[in-house]
Formats: sequence, structure tokens, C-alpha cells
Amino acid sequence: MPISSSSHLIDRHGRRVSYLRLSVTDRCDFRCTYCMGEKMNFLPREEVLSLEECLRIARVFVRLGVSKIRITGGEPLVRRNLSWLLREIAALPGLSELVLTTNGSQLERFAQSLVEAGVKRVNVSLDTLKPERFREITRIGEIGQVLDGIAAARVAGFRRVKLNTVMMRGVNDDEFAALVHYALYHDLDITFIEEMPLGETGRDRPGSYMSGEEALALLGRDFPLIPSSETSGGPARYWRLPGANTRIGFISPLSHNFCETCNRVRVTARGELHPCLGQNEALPLMPLLRAHPEGEESDTLLLQAITESMGLRPKGHEFSYASPETPAPEKPQVLRFMSMTGG
Ligand code: 5AD
Ligand code: SF4
Repeated sequence: MPISSSSHLIDRHGRRVSYLRLSVTDRCDFRCTYCMGEKMNFLPREEVLSLEECLRIARVFVRLGVSKIRITGGEPLVRRNLSWLLREIAALPGLSELVLTTNGSQLERFAQSLVEAGVKRVNVSLDTLKPERFREITRIGEIGQVLDGIAAARVAGFRRVKLNTVMMRGVNDDEFAALVHYALYHDLDITFIEEMPLGETGRDRPGSYMSGEEALALLGRDFPLIPSSETSGGPARYWRLPGANTRIGFISPLSHNFCETCNRVRVTARGELHPCLGQNEALPLMPLLRAHPEGEESDTLLLQAITESMGLRPKGHEFSYASPETPAPEKPQVLRFMSMTGG
């Protein structure tokens, strides 16, 4: 069956999927307390998508009308020869934006080659500016490496560099203003994210949950925030400050479900297609990839499977912590860690 170049992915609720988040590894050189358990078992190499398989998946999604791809992990920069994959993906006709999320630990070394490979923007996770606290949150990370990485990204020529901060009451909520000052000073964007119940990490998540609204009120004491109607096509709501480039965003998957406009799907490092972050259901692509070597015919099978997966997309996710109506869940509602699904 020839595939028309105008194919589109439309799910059963009429939402168009134009954005793929592709995880290239489940490994990471940090062990952030909100993302991983202390002891993690990573996948054996043969269960992880090869770079060629990643490219094949990206190519099929682009044929299906996906125009933006984000490379995630784990930590994508620990994957060897990643720049080969990035160059190949960036060159796919029809793709308009290749971006990447990183913890920044290797960014000083890789920033320039990412720009040269065609990565337009990077998101860097940064939850604190204090070295000791950084060590506690990441369990093993060195903040100096990340700050050097951010500095390298600033000069490397990305269109924009954005910080991602996971909000944790009693852990980093006294630093939100300092993080915004840091973003302003370095001309970065910053997004504050509500912690999601993904995987059993050992943290008391309901106890430290903080909503975007609360953080906004906190920041409003220090900054004359102006609401902005701009969107990056994603779930963040933005605010600005007079005379500054910096955008201050909030992603509130718990307090404000933004599923009506969800345009994205995720593929894990193991090749599972997750139609929704908040759902355990997934479609394994690996059997299709490995049973049918590359070629027009076998890409058609992949393409059909992905198209059919649109029927699995739920209307919305139902993350929640305790409230009078919904008792606190004993277990995380989604069993995968973020490092499995890709942030
Ligand atoms: N809830 C919210 N954000 C998370 N991240 C990792 N785990 C979680 C979670 N449970 C964030 C990281 C990173 C991005 C990939 O996802 O901080 O910025
Ligand atoms: Fe690694 Fe990112 Fe997870 Fe932290 S949040 S452990 S940096 S994948």
C-alpha cells in the first residue's frame, strides 16, 4: 500500500498527533528522587532500540505527519553516537523541529555538536541552585557540571534554552524566585512542573505536592508577572516580566488536566508506544521492527500499527493526590518511571 505523504494521525477523540517524544535510553547518570528509585535495574542492551531502529520509528512518524520530535531518556546524552541519530532525524523531510531534554551533566561537551546536528532547542532540568541540595535531589549529581552545561548551551546557538523545575514543597519551594532570577540573568526560559505519580521512587509525593497556582502566587510576591497568551503548542501556561525575554511557564498535569489539546505520543527506549503518559497501556513496536527488516513493505506494517494505536488514546489522564473526594493512592497510578517513558 503506497503511503500518501499527507497522512495524518488523528485519534478517536479528533485530536491530531503531531509531536513525538522518543526516548533513546532508560539510563541516566543521575538518580533524581522524583524520577527513579535508589536502586534501578536498567534494560539489557539488546532490549533497547538501536539507533537505526530509533531512526526508523522517527521516519515513520514523520511520514504520518509528525512535525516535531523531542529526544528524551533517561539522559539522552549518555547514549553513544547520538549525534548520528540527531543528524539523520533533523534531515527527515517534513520535520520542522528537533529538540532535546537533558539533565545538563554532559552539555558542556555536547552543546556545540547538538546545534551542528540540527537540534533547535534544549530543555535542561534544574530544581535548585544549591550544590548540597542538588546532590540530595539527584542523589549523585554535581551542580557545577550542569551550570557549566547551561552556560555552554547559551553560547552554542540554540534558539532558546529552557529550564525545567519540578516543584517540591519543603524541598525547593524556597528557591523558585532565585531560579527565576537565574533564568532572567542568563536569558533562559523556565517552566515549573507539578510532580507526577510515575513509578515508585520512595518519595512522599502527596506530602510535597505543590500546584502551579501556589507557585505562581509565591512568585507574584517578587515579580510583576504579566499573563501571556503565547503557547508552545504544549501544556505550559506562560507569564512574562516587563522588558525581559524570559518566559515563566507552569505545567500543571494534576491541578489542570490539559488533555483536550494533547498532540503528543511517546516511544520508550524499549520501543513501546505510549499513546498517553497517564495510562499504562502501550503498543510494543519492537516485534514489528525486529521481525520485519527495513523496507517499504515492513515500514507499512509499522505505519499501520501506529495509526491503529490512535484508538488507544484515552480522553484524558486521571493523576491525583489526596483530596476530600479522592483518597491518596497507596501506589503510584502509573507504574513506569519517568526515565522509562521519557519526560
Ligand atoms: N513528575 C514531574 N516531572 C518529572 N520529571 C521526571 N520525573 C518527574 C515526575 N515524576 C521531569 C524531569 C525532567 C523532565 C524530563 O521530566 O525533571 O525535567
Ligand atoms: Fe535522570 Fe532526568 Fe530522571 Fe533525573 S529526572 S534521574 S536526570 S532521567
